[in-house]
Amino acid sequence: MRALILAGGFGTRLRPLSCTRPKLMFPIANRPLLDWVLERLSKSGVTRVVLAVNYMADVLRENFGKSKYGLEIVYSLEKKPLGTGGPIKMAEKFLGDTDEPFFVLNGDILSSMDYSELLAAHTSHKADATLALHEVDDPSRFGVVEMNGNEQILRFVEKPKKEEAPSKLVNAGVYVLNHTVFDLIPSDRKVSIEREVFPVLAGSGGLYGHKFNGVWIDIGKPSDYIQANKIVLDEIASEKPFLGKGAKVRSRVKIIPPVAIGSGAIIEDDVCIGPYVSIGNDVTVGKGSRIQDSVIYSKAWIDKFSSIKGAIIGEGAIIGSWVKVEEQCIVGDHAVINDNVTLTQKVQICPSKEVDASIFEPSTVM
Ligand code: GDD
Ligand code: MG
Repeated sequence: MRALILAGGFGTRLRPLSCTRPKLMFPIANRPLLDWVLERLSKSGVTRVVLAVNYMADVLRENFGKSKYGLEIVYSLEKKPLGTGGPIKMAEKFLGDTDEPFFVLNGDILSSMDYSELLAAHTSHKADATLALHEVDDPSRFGVVEMNGNEQILRFVEKPKKEEAPSKLVNAGVYVLNHTVFDLIPSDRKVSIEREVFPVLAGSGGLYGHKFNGVWIDIGKPSDYIQANKIVLDEIASEKPFLGKGAKVRSRVKIIPPVAIGSGAIIEDDVCIGPYVSIGNDVTVGKGSRIQDSVIYSKAWIDKFSSIKGAIIGEGAIIGSWVKVEEQCIVGDHAVINDNVTLTQKVQICPSKEVDASIFEPSTVM
């Protein structure tokens, strides 16, 4: 079985972190999102993965190479972004030499979905395409379906107004497609599979859906990304902290699980960490600092008596002493926040910027 992962996309809602990495490289409990996805695919019997890439393709290639978790990895590089449908057509040469149906995954989804169950539903309905569906409270950010009792999708509407959504069942961004779908996607241009292909398939009666419960989260905006980290931390570190190789935890440190601390990290005296914190590799947390509900990327350096709460600190960022970073603030890679500064309320600091004065309202420092 083969799978194509849509791994392009600029991740605009995750700026400034996405200025310096593609969405699939965002760490979830210290491992890139793509690692979690590939590992699951490998366990479900997939043998070849096509990564449809454009934005920062090299970063993915360098990190994942030609194989991982027993999967062969092939890169399908778009010269310009082809949307969510164009890359599928473009990868026909990597997927089309067998008659087997294949999986397509939006790469920015963390889920506990059983892919083989989706394939079984697809086969039993003799569908052209089968979408994994998930129930959410506000469907307006997603593709929404109207489905009959036989799991046949009668209507597919991408991002409808809340009051116009036909149900609360949304496209979970995981599909099984037959080769017949290639014929419905135009070549060499940007195509939205959600707007141009699924409505056609629904009209012809070949589109089916299969609802699943369990973990499902699109990491595309900061609050959801932090939530995805929490979910995984609960799974891997709820009882005792997950400590990487060579991590040093000094005296009188209080750790409130779930917490993951990466290899080579140094946690100085009197620090309090948790709950819900991931600390990347080679991070230093200075004496007396306090971190909760946050994601700290590798090589960040946090000085003494600072407080990080509900925030994301980018790779190699430097946080001075007596600094506060709170309430969904994002500090870009290698930015410098000088001593005594407070950042609250969704302040975003672009990569490599230096901040000397406090900021108390939503804004972006470019
Ligand atoms: N290769 C490639 N090229 N990938 C792309 C491109 C492109 O031009 N544009 C987007 N992608 C990738 C993104 O990186 C992401 O993994 C996936 O395609 C979906 O794009 P998003 O931009 O994240 O779409 P969305 O989250 O607004 O909506 C989609 O996902 C929802 C589920 O989270 C739609 O499929 C909705 O119908 C669905 O409900
Ligand atoms: Mg998305």
